[in-house]
Amino acid sequence: MGMNRRRFVAATLATAGAALVKAPPAAAASSPTYPPAQEVPGAVSAEAVAAAHFPEDFLWGMATAAFQVEGAWREDGKGESIWDRFVHTTGKVKGAATADMACDSYHFYPQDIAILKQLNQKSFRFSISWPRIQPDGTGAANQKGLDHYSRVVDAVLEAGIRPFCTVYHWDLPQGLEDRGGWPNRDLAGYFADYAGILAKHLGDRITVWAPFNMPWSFTWMGYGVGVFPPGRASYRDFLRAAHTVSLAQGEAFRAIKAASSKALVGSAYGMAPAYPKTGSAEDRAAADRYHAMNNVYFLDAAMYGRYPDAFVVPTPYELMGYRAGDDKIMRAPLDWIGFHYYTRRIVSDAGGSAHPGAGASFGTEIEEDTAGRRDPYTRFHAAMPTEGPLTDAGLEIWPRGIYDLVTRISREYNHPIIEITESGCSYLDSPYEKENGHVPDQRRIAFFREELAELARAIQDGARVRAFHAWSLLDNFEWADGYAERYGLTYVDFRDQQRTIKDSGLWYGRVAASNRLEA
Ligand code: FCB
Repeated sequence: MGMNRRRFVAATLATAGAALVKAPPAAAASSPTYPPAQEVPGAVSAEAVAAAHFPEDFLWGMATAAFQVEGAWREDGKGESIWDRFVHTTGKVKGAATADMACDSYHFYPQDIAILKQLNQKSFRFSISWPRIQPDGTGAANQKGLDHYSRVVDAVLEAGIRPFCTVYHWDLPQGLEDRGGWPNRDLAGYFADYAGILAKHLGDRITVWAPFNMPWSFTWMGYGVGVFPPGRASYRDFLRAAHTVSLAQGEAFRAIKAASSKALVGSAYGMAPAYPKTGSAEDRAAADRYHAMNNVYFLDAAMYGRYPDAFVVPTPYELMGYRAGDDKIMRAPLDWIGFHYYTRRIVSDAGGSAHPGAGASFGTEIEEDTAGRRDPYTRFHAAMPTEGPLTDAGLEIWPRGIYDLVTRISREYNHPIIEITESGCSYLDSPYEKENGHVPDQRRIAFFREELAELARAIQDGARVRAFHAWSLLDNFEWADGYAERYGLTYVDFRDQQRTIKDSGLWYGRVAASNRLEA
């Protein structure tokens, strides 16, 4: 894959950076950075794979997101989302792809859930489309939207699978963007109303909730650099959007719990272990800023009601629209911590030279010329390394990363219950007639096998990981990449919606049944 693609994906999947200086004593005392990148071994031995095993009650799962699979973009009273607007705007998505149909899971969900059941899955992480529930983002609920998800949840439970609901996976009602989008702090209250509606109508059956998928990514990509909707590029808008999301996370936590006493609320953050490029104090500090900004910014907002030290300047409270008392709104001690792992970063200090354009935004991970253009607040450079093999999306395969990430979060947050909310790889394998139409995606099997061996090692070393969700149940609409990437464990022929379970899906089904990797 070319560099453009790599940079784009890096930004899609990652985290961003920012600065600071104050911090929670608990985290500070026990958070050594990782050793320099070159000292960390990447490979996983065959013996480690053979020895790996998972607890009896481990929750094997798969994940999807409403916008990426549902289609039916105007059905049953659904409103327009910012992603609908984006895909219908020329030049935004690769191949001019839309998600108007996607996998048509709005209609095919019974078949999709049957695949989960066939593959012995215990947990299904899906998201709910806000504009199906509140077409303009506020006001009364659309009964047809609620009825749809009620049927989905019933079918999931009927299959013996735990429903895991992501409340927001990026498809903001366009009506709320028209009111200013996430930089408008009123959205925190609207979001809590929406989350409360879901918990009231579905909370008798859904017990596991994550308010936001990858909050850093959609605020940064949407408002900081503009490659996702709504396409703004302003560091101020990014900081404000991020702050509203922190407030919304806390408000939603309380709204969900108020409506459903069974609710267990956690998260679905994007995280990447950040290895310092060299052993220098500057690079180590830069890697810590990456961790603070890209991995735990929203997590600390919830757990401690404050932001971690992500900036090289004092925390820019004014720019983010922070008001006295916001710490109490943000604080929401999560019942468990969920995060995704795809690949690692190598982080270096971006140097001390002055930022050329005061307040302007230059993406930490998608900029072309890091020497001259960097954001003035976090001042780190995060690279996507290429030492290991690359997936078809251009992401480096680094199984060891999940061990380092899980054990660090475990240590820094006092051994919480952890769920891996997503992990996976894009490979373009398709049905092969010489193998009876099977999809022999051996590279995906190898990816999961090595990664899961490292996850098993983290569990052996004491991390309380209770679930792993492979991304994704289906090949689907991969955001600005359209259908040019295939992350599914099931192949989807987008011409006729035919599903074919890939060899990796069959393998993963055996892993789920045996809790072992040599399945
Ligand atoms: C994550 C997203 C998910 C999917 C995968 C490949 O960033 O949460 O929707 O796009 O990456």
